[in-house]
Amino acid sequence: MNNIKKSNILVCITGSIAAYKSVDLVRLFKKNGHEVQVVMTESAREFITPLTLQAISGHKVHQSLLDIDAELAMGHIELAKWADVIVIAPCSAETIARLSLGRANDLLGAIILASKAKKFIAPAMNTNMWSNPVTKKNIFYLSSNDMNLIGPAKGDQACGDVGYGRMSEPEEIYESVQVTLNQSLNGKKIIVTAGPTREQIDPVRFISNNSSGKMGFAMAEAAASSGAEVFLITGPVSLTCSDLIKRIDVKTANDMYEESLKLMHSADIFIGCAAVADFKSVEISHQKIKKSFENHFDIRLEKNIDIISSLAEQFPAKTFMGFCAETERVEEYAKEKLISKGLDLIVANDVSKSDIGFDSDFNEVNVYTKEEKKYFQKSTKSLLAIKLINLLGPDSQSIH
Ligand code: PMT
Repeated sequence: MNNIKKSNILVCITGSIAAYKSVDLVRLFKKNGHEVQVVMTESAREFITPLTLQAISGHKVHQSLLDIDAELAMGHIELAKWADVIVIAPCSAETIARLSLGRANDLLGAIILASKAKKFIAPAMNTNMWSNPVTKKNIFYLSSNDMNLIGPAKGDQACGDVGYGRMSEPEEIYESVQVTLNQSLNGKKIIVTAGPTREQIDPVRFISNNSSGKMGFAMAEAAASSGAEVFLITGPVSLTCSDLIKRIDVKTANDMYEESLKLMHSADIFIGCAAVADFKSVEISHQKIKKSFENHFDIRLEKNIDIISSLAEQFPAKTFMGFCAETERVEEYAKEKLISKGLDLIVANDVSKSDIGFDSDFNEVNVYTKEEKKYFQKSTKSLLAIKLINLLGPDSQSIH
């Protein structure tokens, strides 16, 4: 990306084993031209030394609210004013609880209360602590009050448990902050479709697929973070999205098309991430179909509307990013769909791989335009989504 706005970034490190990753985070911000200062809580210093962070950031590390030297030079109010961005990474359950109470009895708490900077938290804790209703309540409160949440990720934990609670990787934290700073899609209106559609056969049975909605929701969040007004039209999924997004829940491909069409007139970009059912039943029985005494039961199917291709035909001046899920000849089919559906870009994933694609937290894709191909290595869907959304911004160096 070009034109990165240089900012004053305050990285705050709290007590977690993930504290060692903050070294990489500070390094990434510095490498990209930002000015970085570091605050460490007392517990953070049990995991990593201030000397390390001082060497990486090039500044004395701030540790204490009542530091006579610091109060002469850069006290907590000065630091709060200096920062354009505050990133708390890792952010422990204890810090989350204290922040949600508005405590100011240590340097970190006082700075957070005093600062008008953009604030991000990257939680890191045991998976049961993360899923505890008290933590959930605290997180909900903080994220509804100007704290941008990054992660946590799912995976193996230092304590041996597996689940959500790992701090997001430094690259993901860096990209999430950067996309918010750049606001490259400011003023754009974007429609994202996500999840499966559900085509009813009778009142209790339907045709659908394995889409969880994770990729589409990640695209919507990334687009909203980069300043776009985002409408997320989603099939039935069990996910929640942030308040930044206008969510419309639908069931069938037809509903998804109708809702998309209503918004398309004033939209700039359409991102089709939904796994739309290609077929629907010709007849929907009003009563539950009884088990037949014969061995076979035929359902006649008819083609559903192709949402993205119909919209691309009606609105040729707008930008269309499609997704393509294939189990074989991925590149060939992706290129075919790019042309036949009238798209500007297509994101192709090989859904025969069980560790990416449907329902996974990860994905690995190739993006095709008529002229170019770009590979994106396996990463979390949220990090990948940020990178894909960057392709749509004015500063994108390639692909589009
Ligand atoms: O939801 P997840 O579990 O996170 O999984 C993510 C995903 C695998 C669903 C996602 O990455 C993905 O590949 N989405 C597109 C799936 C798909 O339907 O691909 P397709 O090759 O059948 O369709 C190509 C494009 O046409 C897509 O943009 C699709 O939204 C669109 N389409 C397809 C059929 C149809 N009737 N109308 C459409 O608009």
